[in-house]
Amino acid sequence: MHVPVLLKETVGILDPKKGEFFIDGTLGAGGHSEEILKRISPGGTLLGIDLDPEMLEKTKRRFEGLDLGSMKIFTEGNYADIPKVIQRHRLPKADGLILDLGFSSWHIESSGRGFSFALDEPLDMRYSPKINDLNAYSVVNGENEYELAKIIYEYGEERNSRRISKAIVTARRNKKIRTSRELSEIINSAFGGRQGKINNATKTFQAIRIYVNGELENLKTVLEETPEILKKGGRLGIITFHSLEDKIVKEKFKSLEKKGQAEILNKKVIKPEREEIIRNPKSRSAKLRAIKII
Ligand SMILES: C[S@@+](CC[C@H](N)C(=O)[O-])C[C@H]1O[C@@H](n2cnc3c(N)ncnc32)[C@H](O)[C@@H]1O
Repeated sequence: MHVPVLLKETVGILDPKKGEFFIDGTLGAGGHSEEILKRISPGGTLLGIDLDPEMLEKTKRRFEGLDLGSMKIFTEGNYADIPKVIQRHRLPKADGLILDLGFSSWHIESSGRGFSFALDEPLDMRYSPKINDLNAYSVVNGENEYELAKIIYEYGEERNSRRISKAIVTARRNKKIRTSRELSEIINSAFGGRQGKINNATKTFQAIRIYVNGELENLKTVLEETPEILKKGGRLGIITFHSLEDKIVKEKFKSLEKKGQAEILNKKVIKPEREEIIRNPKSRSAKLRAIKII
């Protein structure tokens, strides 16, 4: 079960009110949506979007029993396409949008798609099988050594990227790399048995996942679309999990404020309290930033 991160803080700053229209662009297991639904009910509208059809189906079923007198619309799609989704459903601009980026616990633990270096699963790492032909297997077995190193460096901020990409290219000459366990062992071999503070495979797995799903491009797109999605007074909250995402959000929010289009709601980035990190260690790198459209 996915434990929603920074729930109290997110709902607090987005301040959903009775009758409002809120969008959850990364519905996942619906932890944030459930709380938002309670606040906008009765008479509100919740639009929940997830790229992953399996994830969406599960959560949609879970919400069937939750009738609080609001309209619930669940749709499979990319949050970068929210303006089109709004149009398709003939919805107005929203009072609020939440994005809780990345993958859910279900993806890591139960999807069977090779998101975790601790499990032995086929390398895939796509949120949606429908999006494109790129997956973790094709990246790991198809990209040349230079491109691989670049992906691992850019999206994983991994200083040992060249050594890792060399180890991958050498290993795949003998046999294709098929599983997350095989990939993790190859990455570890590039470290010559040294073990750092975090698992040696963490940054490379992050890099491949971000690249395969075009995560940073989607984030940049939705940030550009903010005026089409939110009405004046509308709030946007984004939870990020690594510095690449946080930097994009921070800079865009600052620039919107400078242009007089938005007000930053938290002058200091919001991080989980110690108690939350102990209860849910996966929350430790989470950062929340929020703006209000003016
Ligand atoms: C961290 S989880 C969200 C968890 C959710 N807030 C909760 O409390 O259960 C992120 C979700 O976003 C989805 N996702 C990732 N990229 C997406 C995109 N571009 N568009 C829509 N959904 C996306 C993933 O499939 C995943 O289910």
